[in-house]
Amino acid sequence: MTTENAILTQTTLQLLQGCRRLLVLSGAGISAESGIPTFREAQTGLWAQYSPADLATPEAFDQHPERIWAWYQWRRNLIARGGPNAGHHALADLTRTHQVFIATQNVDGLHTAAGNRHIAELHGNIWRNLCSHCGATNTEAMAESSDDSPRYCQNCGHMARPDIIWFGETLPMAALQAAENELDRCDAILIVGTSNRVYPAASLAEAAVASSRPVLEINPRTTPLTTAVDVHIATSASQALPALATTLQA
Ligand code: OAD
Repeated sequence: MTTENAILTQTTLQLLQGCRRLLVLSGAGISAESGIPTFREAQTGLWAQYSPADLATPEAFDQHPERIWAWYQWRRNLIARGGPNAGHHALADLTRTHQVFIATQNVDGLHTAAGNRHIAELHGNIWRNLCSHCGATNTEAMAESSDDSPRYCQNCGHMARPDIIWFGETLPMAALQAAENELDRCDAILIVGTSNRVYPAASLAEAAVASSRPVLEINPRTTPLTTAVDVHIATSASQALPALATTLQA
């Protein structure tokens, strides 16, 4: 493993030379520069300030749906205000010359907002409401709103919930399968802005480093997988990804 503080070096370029099909495994860090807090960073991370048991479990929703909806609306407003940043846009730009598939743990919808189309949302989407009663879903536009009250199913009228995978729930099989399939087909893998600590999403990154394909990690800090990747680019996503996209398209 090489750690690089310079954004792009010969090692990185050689590794990615001829790679046309890229799998990106993204996490909260790619959206940090849109002003959206990550989860596990000391002090600033959401889970340093709030308890996941109070806000990200089906039990908490059953007990306090109003509190949960208000918290998710607060997060929605941060996302709508921030919008996609240079990192998200760089991945969308890269699709002009490369096949890019993104398996993201993020629920913010910012990869789609930037223009990427091949995305597996492993943890759901904060803009989609799910009715636990009839299973209907309804997606709201990415826009700020002062309405932080619970949303109701447009089909059956029961209270809906954010269509997010909460602790103790199962990941959507189709999204996980699509990401696994892409892992077999891609030429190289970029792991961007995730602590690689949450399973089963982290098992995709583990499978990536166990594969024979080049693996680059973009993260200002280290993660449990840093020593196993080929190159660790120790800078922010909004610096590294535009540089990478420009160079790969040159
Ligand atoms: P974490 O908060 O666990 O990790 C964020 C990572 O992003 C850290 O390793 C940071 O060092 C890195 N980071 C911070 N700023 C960055 C930047 N500008 N550029 C690149 N990297 C940066 O977030 P995740 O790994 O995404 O689950 O967390 C996984 C899951 O845990 C989330 O999807 C969420 C949470 O519980 C659900 O909401 C279901």
